[in-house]
This record gives sequence, structure tokens and C-alpha cells, in this order.
Amino acid sequence: MIALVTGANRGIGHEVSRQLLGLGWTVLVTARSERAAREAAARLGAGAHPLRLDVRSPADTEAVARVLRERFGGLDVLVNNAAITYDTWQRAVGADLDVVREAMETNLYGPWRLVQAVLPLLRASRRPRVVNVSSEGGSLAGMTGGTPAYSVSKAGLNALTRMLAGELRADGVLVNSVCPGWVATDMGGPGGRPVAEGAAGIVWAATLPDDGPTGGFFHDERPLPW
Ligand SMILES: NC(=O)c1ccc[n+]([C@@H]2O[C@H](COP(=O)([O-])OP(=O)(O)OC[C@H]3O[C@@H](n4cnc5c(N)ncnc54)[C@H](OP(=O)(O)O)[C@@H]3O)[C@@H](O)[C@H]2O)c1
Repeated sequence: MIALVTGANRGIGHEVSRQLLGLGWTVLVTARSERAAREAAARLGAGAHPLRLDVRSPADTEAVARVLRERFGGLDVLVNNAAITYDTWQRAVGADLDVVREAMETNLYGPWRLVQAVLPLLRASRRPRVVNVSSEGGSLAGMTGGTPAYSVSKAGLNALTRMLAGELRADGVLVNSVCPGWVATDMGGPGGRPVAEGAAGIVWAATLPDDGPTGGFFHDERPLPW
């Protein structure tokens, strides 16, 4: 099995890569700088292959799809993990829309563009899965205000999950959103749970059996309200 993880140089993406490698998979360890990808892959060891991928860059995205096709011969699992701007400092009523736009570029359009680029490879896979790493902050059901850029971008990502799941169901591509919970990373800060626990639910969605769910939103393998 071949997986690609975005933002795999630190935090949850790095740990997801480690856990997938533990299953004997080949993992494309991507990061927005070549050096960060190389260092991360070196830390992870055998089976980890570094690639530069800034998810905001159409050129990087195309290059990654090309490398997957020509050097690795396919892709089974895409983990859209990279994200920015947990904007606890602002509220929707006064939000800086440039900040919102920047968050959308990385948290929504990046994953969307990447799925489109690798879709022929996923369609050709025998066990294709897409995991969109989301957040309860993107749940419309629980939304009351605060962290507007982050929350709106994750709500958009959840909508993308629903649409892709519907459109790709017939091709056997399982597409789900997963919230890792509050995790002690650079984004989550101290006090969150260990990164291995946050990553486990993402790995679960990456390794679903063929009759597993699609178009769902999960935390620790349990459904979350949209
Ligand atoms: N931590 C939590 O409590 C928590 C809770 C709910 C959801 N999540 C979600 O879990 C995922 C991982 O979060 P985390 O806590 O591991 O965050 P993190 O520690 O801040 O790591 C974010 C990762 O995304 C990468 N990244 C940012 N912009 C990128 C871009 N344009 N292209 C490629 N990579 C980019 C970062 O790379 P650089 O090193 O280059 O910046 C880094 O590797 C995110 O989707 C986040 O929203 C986290």
C-alpha cells in the first residue's frame, strides 16, 4: 500500500506517517520544504520517501502526482493533514478576510486540488481511501462563534468530504473526515492528548475495509455531528 501524507514533517502528520510505516506501507512523507521532507523521512526510516509539497502550489501538486505515477506506480491512500491558522485571536464579526482567505488556500483548496490531481491513481487502486483531517471546530452543529478562519475552512473541508464521497462511491473510494481531538502539537499546544492517540483515528480511516463507511465525520472511530 502506498500513502501520501501532507504536512508530514511534524505533529499529527508525522505520527500518522510513522503508524502507516509500522503497517509495512510505503509512505510519501511530504512537507512544504524539500529539506523538511528529507529530514522527516530520515527520522521515519525505511519505507518513507520525502517529497516537497506545498499544498498551496499547483505546480508542486502536479509534480507530486507525476512522481507518484512515474516512480511509485500509483497511490492508495491520501491523507490531507496539513492545515494552518487556528485563529483564536479573532471573531467572525471583525475577522481579517485576508487571513480567512489564506486559511482557505491551505485548509480547503489545497486538499481539493490534490484530490483532483491524484484521482486517476486513486481510481486505479484496489483499496482507495481519502482522509480529510478536520476538526470539531468545523462542525456546523456545534458552531457558536470564534476561530472563524479555521472553522469555516474546516466546515468547507467537511462539505468537500461529503461531495467527494458521493461522487466517488461507485469507484470504491472511501472518503471521510476525521477530527483527531485536542492533541499536544505546535497547533494544539500543551495540555492536549498524546499525538499517537490523535493519529490513531486517522490511521483507522486510512485502513478501512471495503465495506467501511464513506462520507462520514469521525472522532476515535465514532461519528461526530456535522
Ligand atoms: N492539534 C490539535 O489539537 C488539532 C485538533 C483538531 C484538528 N487538528 C488538525 O490536525 C491536522 C494536523 O494538525 P497538527 O496539530 O499536527 O498541526 P501542526 O503541528 O501545526 O502541523 C501542521 C503541519 O501542516 C504543515 N503545513 C502548513 N501549511 C502547509 C502547506 N501550505 N503545505 C504543506 N504543509 C503545510 C506544517 O508544515 P510547516 O512545518 O512547514 O509549517 C506542519 O507539518 C490539521 O489539519 C489540524 O487542523 C489538530
